[in-house]
Amino acid sequence: MLLSKFGEKFTCHSGILSLMDDLGNALAGNDHMIMMGGGNPAHIPEMEDIFRQRLQCILDSRNQFSRLIGTYDPPAGDQDFCRELAAMLRRRFGWKLTARNICLTQGSQTAFFMLFNILGGPTRSGQKRRIQLPLAPEYIGYSDCGIGEELFAAERPDIEEIDAHTFKYHVNFDALNVNRDTAALCISRPTNPTGNVLTDGELERLNALAKEHDIPLIIDGAYGLPFPELIFTEATPHWDEHVILCLSLSKLGLPALRTGIVIACEEVIAAVSAMNAITSLAPNSVGAMVTVDMIRDDSIMTMSQTIIRPWYEERLAFACREFKRALGEELPWAMHKPEGAMFLWLWFRDLPITSLALYERLKQRGVLVVSGHYFFPGLKEEWQHRHECLRVTYTRDQDTVRRGIDIIAEEVRKAYSETLTK
Ligand SMILES: Cc1ncc(COP(=O)(O)O)c(C=O)c1O
Repeated sequence: MLLSKFGEKFTCHSGILSLMDDLGNALAGNDHMIMMGGGNPAHIPEMEDIFRQRLQCILDSRNQFSRLIGTYDPPAGDQDFCRELAAMLRRRFGWKLTARNICLTQGSQTAFFMLFNILGGPTRSGQKRRIQLPLAPEYIGYSDCGIGEELFAAERPDIEEIDAHTFKYHVNFDALNVNRDTAALCISRPTNPTGNVLTDGELERLNALAKEHDIPLIIDGAYGLPFPELIFTEATPHWDEHVILCLSLSKLGLPALRTGIVIACEEVIAAVSAMNAITSLAPNSVGAMVTVDMIRDDSIMTMSQTIIRPWYEERLAFACREFKRALGEELPWAMHKPEGAMFLWLWFRDLPITSLALYERLKQRGVLVVSGHYFFPGLKEEWQHRHECLRVTYTRDQDTVRRGIDIIAEEVRKAYSETLTK
């Protein structure tokens, strides 16, 4: 098969594909695998009950059921949902939005693919414009989204050492190079993989930079504000005329309904809607119909705060305690301050083997995590730190998490002791 350049790019072995394949294959072959690798949101029974009841109401109404399965929405998605969401955001935060500032996509991953390529890449005049990621590590799902080459640029962060075993990444504003080739800034807040939440101060500075250069600031709020609010620290929701805020229903517990939400100026919304029409005619209606009532009465926010966030917070506290117990005081390990999302990001300083080798050893022992080296899209320079980190998902039951953590600690200890005895 003779492939186009586009075909080659999107069918070659991308990082996200190999990661998803590897996780899937390892699981398919072994029921006993301890899964601490994926980004699937938890199945929270209380939330599932709420979604089931809502679906039942739709099924019980002939009109609503017909709409659910039998009608194409407009290219911007379900307008009832967009109107209600704009009203909720006006009511709660005073953001000056109408339905024309909102459109839906098939999951927020699709929104990023569209936005990055609408804004970045070669222009008609031959300029090559980049998406600047102010912070690395960043979400692996961005990496292969560019139709052209080298769409992303990223900088090393500053590392704040909070105590012997805790650190936090900050944007290195001195290194951040915004110039006429910068098409947009993009950050995930909270960040996948690190659980970092950019401070309000950092966000304000990025906002000011974007405004000064008249470029969009894309905020990926898949885990963030105002829902599902997987944030365990102080953080203020933010939107502005040049901000493109991308939300998702996935981490509320609805990843299979593929609903992404873009909130931006009308020009951006018109562009994404036009691309929706070309690539898929219309986005999926199911997520919007299942959640519109929760938006109308703001309960999507209270449920996030009273059901979803505490569920993750409890598991996070357990996993942190277990890591401290298992890794102890002597080893040079550190954990990124867990401020949000559903991952722990571990840093093993001067680890004698790469994080990929550690991942392989753990897989042999029946524990699946993700090697940190994947999560540096756009970072050109070599950096040892990149090969010293692991991303660990902590959402399984306590017994499984404890067993997984014990095995991780054993393998890390073994790796360090190998060099000592060499
Ligand atoms: C930071 C981040 N952004 C976006 C996405 C995409 O999510 P979805 O396409 O399900 O909305 C994910 C998925 O895990 C993510 O971790």
